[in-house]
Amino acid sequence: MTITRHFVLAGALALVLLPAAGRAQGSLTVYCSVQEEWCRPMAQTFERTTGIRVAMTRKSSGETMTQIRAEATNPRGDVWWGGTGDPHMQAAEENLTLEYRSPRMTELHDWATRQAEQARFRTIGIYAGALGYSYNAPELARRRIAAPRCWADLVRPDFRGEIQVADPNTSGTAYTLLATLLQVMGEEPAFTYLRALHRNVNQYTRSGAAPARAAATGETLVGITFLHDAVTQKVAGAPLEIVAPCEGTGYEIGSMSIIRGARNLDNARRFYDWALSPEAQALGGQAQSFQLPSNRAAPIPPQAPRFEDIRLIDYDFARWGSAEERTRVLTRWEREVRASGR
Ligand code: G6P
Repeated sequence: MTITRHFVLAGALALVLLPAAGRAQGSLTVYCSVQEEWCRPMAQTFERTTGIRVAMTRKSSGETMTQIRAEATNPRGDVWWGGTGDPHMQAAEENLTLEYRSPRMTELHDWATRQAEQARFRTIGIYAGALGYSYNAPELARRRIAAPRCWADLVRPDFRGEIQVADPNTSGTAYTLLATLLQVMGEEPAFTYLRALHRNVNQYTRSGAAPARAAATGETLVGITFLHDAVTQKVAGAPLEIVAPCEGTGYEIGSMSIIRGARNLDNARRFYDWALSPEAQALGGQAQSFQLPSNRAAPIPPQAPRFEDIRLIDYDFARWGSAEERTRVLTRWEREVRASGR
């Protein structure tokens, strides 16, 4: 009798104390465009602290935008978390994402909220990182090639077939490279440069960070990526030298948006607020992702490349994230660069 009563009591207590994860809090579908290694702890930690079941898939930034557009009449995703800001801006303009003003917006750096203002609050900055490249130092020495320092060095004939970069249609990293070169050099010289670079490219990968992994193993000599993606490899022991190009370089404002027609809108907002918190943003560094977080109180990973040390351009996010410019530049690249011979 007593035992039964205790048992019942314990059962009732367990129900009250049961971690949130055990209760039915519904679900959330997140499209993630950072590295898989960071996507996973984001999903797991949110799931554990809220009890909301998270389905997360990783795709590159441009690919995710295309997917959201294709699903617009029957949206399957709720939140798009991470990836370069330009396609998030385009999605906002194309009415594919929803306005949301998080109470945490006041905790963010100006660059993150400026991104939101420019997109009528349909996206927001979650991290920032500068573009550049890395090379496999022992391989370079073995082949007696002079160390590159600038964008201009990458079109030298001794780098023929030695450079890897992603495809700008799928990858936000590679689109950032196009927009950066256009801003650094002016449009015509930039396209001349891109055709010369094309002769040196051994492969256009689907995802932006892949060339840093390829440079780490020596599969390619040079990989053009965000600097922090090369740092991840270097911290893991790869013999990479990392270059912030001498002419100046562009950067990304990694962004987050809520998908229009989200089936789990309340959960989407909850994730959005949480993803802006210092605790959530600290998961990046723990996952060996070394971007600069957008929350002013979030810890900056000590390995993160600092903007103060890099010659940065004044990247015009509104212009290069506009649907018109993005489509125009990608079409021109396809026609004049990819289609050109090697
Ligand atoms: C990597 C970087 C992120 C960037 C993302 C873009 O994951 O660490 O900072 O936003 O690439 O991915 P994509 O594959 O679209 O170039």
